[in-house]
Amino acid sequence: MRLLATLVLLLLLRSAELRRGPRSGAVERGARGRVRGRGRAGVMRRQTQECKEYMEAGEKYLDCQDRQLTTVMQDWPKDIHHLLLARNKIQVLRGNIFSQFTQLKSLDLQQNHISMVEDGAFSGLSQLTTLLLQHNRLKTATEEVLLPLPRLTYLRLYDNPWICHCSLDSLIRTLQVPSNRNLGNYGKCAEPEALRGQKLRNLNVDLLCADNNQVDRIPGGGDAGLPRLTPTKVNTEATSMCHTYMFPKPQLDCSNKDLNNIPSELPSDIVKMDLSRNTIKHLRPKQFLLAKDLKLLNLSSNSLHHLDTAAFAGLLHLRELDLSNNTLHYFQYGVLEDLYFLRKLSLENNPWICDYNIHYLIYWLKHHPSVFYTGLICSEPREFRGWRVEEYVKTYNGECPKDKRTGGMDTDNTAQEGAGETEGLTCGGMAGNTSL
Ligand SMILES: *[C@@H]1O[C@H](CO)[C@@H](O)[C@H](O)[C@H]1NC(C)=O
Ligand SMILES: *[C@@H]1O[C@H](CO)[C@@H](O)[C@H](O)[C@H]1NC(C)=O
Repeated sequence: MRLLATLVLLLLLRSAELRRGPRSGAVERGARGRVRGRGRAGVMRRQTQECKEYMEAGEKYLDCQDRQLTTVMQDWPKDIHHLLLARNKIQVLRGNIFSQFTQLKSLDLQQNHISMVEDGAFSGLSQLTTLLLQHNRLKTATEEVLLPLPRLTYLRLYDNPWICHCSLDSLIRTLQVPSNRNLGNYGKCAEPEALRGQKLRNLNVDLLCADNNQVDRIPGGGDAGLPRLTPTKVNTEATSMCHTYMFPKPQLDCSNKDLNNIPSELPSDIVKMDLSRNTIKHLRPKQFLLAKDLKLLNLSSNSLHHLDTAAFAGLLHLRELDLSNNTLHYFQYGVLEDLYFLRKLSLENNPWICDYNIHYLIYWLKHHPSVFYTGLICSEPREFRGWRVEEYVKTYNGECPKDKRTGGMDTDNTAQEGAGETEGLTCGGMAGNTSL
């Protein structure tokens, strides 16, 4: 009771203080007014100044990301090709808001607070091919919104609370036209309950407006013939877990998300994927198969212990792989075979065990001299702790009986290619390899 009284008293005092504030003198108020006025103009000027304008590959970019903007400024250059507005505070896209940017090819509006897009918002953007609206607050929109965009080939709508009612019907139909392959691929219904988690692209549109929108009535009736209730796997999908960025390169940032698995449904066009600082223990076969354009994969600071042989299948273009700060002991035979174009491999801070199993890794590295690797230090057994793994492998070969070593050299080629591949990793084979 006394606590409550104190709180009320504090609140009263505080509101009295606030009320007194503006009243304390006309002079001060005038000054403050001027300051405020100047301040606002200053902010506006600063906002435009802070947007970074740059050229890349002959195209003009205006980078206005992370600037607390609530709208588009009229004094921005009109001849830009790419407008980056991610992570601002835009709430509404009014008609003709972008119409001055007639050369715009891509428009990134992700991670704003957009809850409404007026039908003419994208008027004039006849060259636009890429429109990013993911991570906003959109509940509904119509096909009209997309009509001024004849060249649009890439549209992101996911992580918006779409209400799959009859009013969304025309937009969904547009997304479902088979030739519109990259429009709204991952967008999902948030409501009604019966459709939650369903992809806009897969929805049975005829249901939405049929019979005066019968799906809306499900919560009461619960018709068994209608779509399933909330799917359970929602949280593991990359598109809802992680942030995707299109600039400067398509990338997926899933760092520090408490993931213990690779998210499903990885977007196929990403070039960079950051999965660091999670709790992933095990890489299963073919989990990156869809991410075929990936060039950088960061798995550092997880709990990786086991990598399946086909874990990196499909990563033909991967150039950089960061596996540092995990609990890897060795690489299973074959794990690295999919990585044709790897250039950089970070292995530090793993408890590498210097015994027979580590030979595959050394063997592979020797055959891929263009791979720059770091951090390959034995942590076990005790006698080799702190040794470079290559040094350890040399002593292993040194211990080989002489006859076996020569035999190994003679049969080196067959050992590498033939069925007895693992032999290439034993004494003889490794001795042959060290001479390469
Ligand atoms: C991977 O992520 C960690 C931490 O999140 C970072 O320190 C490291 O530089 C990243 N590695 C690469 C190759 O970008
Ligand atoms: C290594 O990973 C652990 C968690 O697995 C983390 O707490 C630690 O900060 C990481 N160390 C470095 C150097 O990134």
